[in-house]
Amino acid sequence: MERFQVVVIGSGPGGYVAAIRAAQLGFSVALVERYPSLGGTCLNVGCIPSKALLDSSEKYYEAAKHLADHGIQIPSVSVDWSKMLARKAQVVKQTVGGIEFLMKKNKIAVYHGHGRLRSANEIAVEGGPVLYGEHIIIATGSKPSPLPGVPIDKKRVITSTEALSLSEIPGRLVIIGGGVIGVEMASIFGRLGSAVTIVEFLDRLLPGMDAEAAEEVRRMLTTDYGAKILLGHAAQGVEMRGEIVKVQVAPRQGGSVQEIEADYVLVAVGRRPYTEGLELEKAGLSVDERGRIPVNEHLQTAVPHIYAIGDVIRGPMLAHKASEDGIYVAERLAGRRPHLDYRQIPGVVYIWPEVAGVGYTEEELKQEGRPYRVGKFPYRASGRARAAHETRGFVKIIADAKTDMLLGMHVVGPRAADLIAVGVAGLAYGASAEDIFRLPLAHPTFSEALKEAALAASEGAPIHL
Ligand code: FAD
Ligand code: NAI
Repeated sequence: MERFQVVVIGSGPGGYVAAIRAAQLGFSVALVERYPSLGGTCLNVGCIPSKALLDSSEKYYEAAKHLADHGIQIPSVSVDWSKMLARKAQVVKQTVGGIEFLMKKNKIAVYHGHGRLRSANEIAVEGGPVLYGEHIIIATGSKPSPLPGVPIDKKRVITSTEALSLSEIPGRLVIIGGGVIGVEMASIFGRLGSAVTIVEFLDRLLPGMDAEAAEEVRRMLTTDYGAKILLGHAAQGVEMRGEIVKVQVAPRQGGSVQEIEADYVLVAVGRRPYTEGLELEKAGLSVDERGRIPVNEHLQTAVPHIYAIGDVIRGPMLAHKASEDGIYVAERLAGRRPHLDYRQIPGVVYIWPEVAGVGYTEEELKQEGRPYRVGKFPYRASGRARAAHETRGFVKIIADAKTDMLLGMHVVGPRAADLIAVGVAGLAYGASAEDIFRLPLAHPTFSEALKEAALAASEGAPIHL
């Protein structure tokens, strides 16, 4: 048996970051990963490969559709899909290689093989040793949720994992689920010429994000890529006819079933925590009704020296949230007093223009009955946006009606993913909308729209509108 102060199970952005932080703080650390490659969903089949294809497809789309507006004539632009996939694979390889390097640098013992709990301190690694951990951090992540009636064959009826490595660009792609994966995949393949249909159960895309931002996304997908979006519809089943898939779709409220033909069907109806084969019960643990490992405010499970982090517990299923959880646990173990606030975790959809939000949405505040003020500034009124020919979108700032305290920031527009950092900092440091207005931001930049929206939230009107 090999002994460590901390054993981490799972090497995604939760697990590998927890392992590094624990090693930095002086613990002896082991990391167990069932796959040969480190980095989990995010690095291998999630954030990184999807962003590589989003960036490549956006460059193609820009060259094909928009460079002429800048006076740049390109006689013919075409896609080399296998080269795009090869570049994506290279980006993943480099990123995963970076994690292997960091494990060595931080003297973290890495074991490849499925980890099973044998007791509250022991983990048996398949094909490897039994590890003893004074503390254990479970970071086993999530897998795509299945959809009854729509069995995944991984060939024609696929999840995001297969979608990121398809051997061809689909002629017709039906996406079941208009959440983050659905919208990002619709952008990738819509730009590359696929006829995309999104079937979304709710009456809007991107549940959880600002409703106006979601409506802007619906318009963009429809007008830019000709996507067909069926809101308030549910997929009821699929039928294979050779290489063609027929998807049965019906209005949520009841009504006649229509059949949509597709070359591929992508199921993106959410993800569920992954604990299969972990044998939680041997350590005295169990999961809740949604398959999550219950934890207290310090991310301790029912067994206090066993922690759980990332997608396998409550909270947003995002890479940076998993990493924050991991840092939190490692620092608590070292006797520090870190804090976590999921309200400050931003959400980003990496389409173009990007969509990002942090803090409360208007919908949530209405539900809570909390009075708020909204300031909005459209990018069409920004000089930087006009210069870049990127005038779609807006910044929305939400402030408390009485105290002017920043409650939320929502951005649709170029570089929204990076601009949202101002909202995160504002929420973390208890800023008011006026504080954001008083930031001396550079001109001309996209960030000036934040200042304008903040003034509008605080005093009713921006300067340049
Ligand atoms: P994971 O990354 O899922 O890692 C868990 C690891 O544990 C896996 O490597 C798994 O093999 C291993 N494991 C499981 N069980 C065992 C066991 N018993 N023994 C040993 N190892 C085990 N989030 C963002 O913030 N930004 C994005 O842009 C983004 N894009 C995404 C795109 C796609 C297509 C998908 C699917 C997800 C995306 N996400 C994104 C979500 C993000 O990938 C997850 O939130 C994140 O990976 C969760 O990290 P984690 O460490 O909790 O789990
Ligand atoms: P999601 O929860 O974002 O969206 C799932 C969608 O499917 C919802 O809109 C839901 O209403 C819909 N749906 C459920 N059942 C349905 C049915 N029967 N028919 C039609 N629609 C149905 O989940 P998604 O997109 O699968 O992503 C999983 C996770 O991965 C998310 O939690 C997300 O945060 C994360 N992710 C994050 C990304 C990012 O940060 N940019 C990118 C991709 C994924």
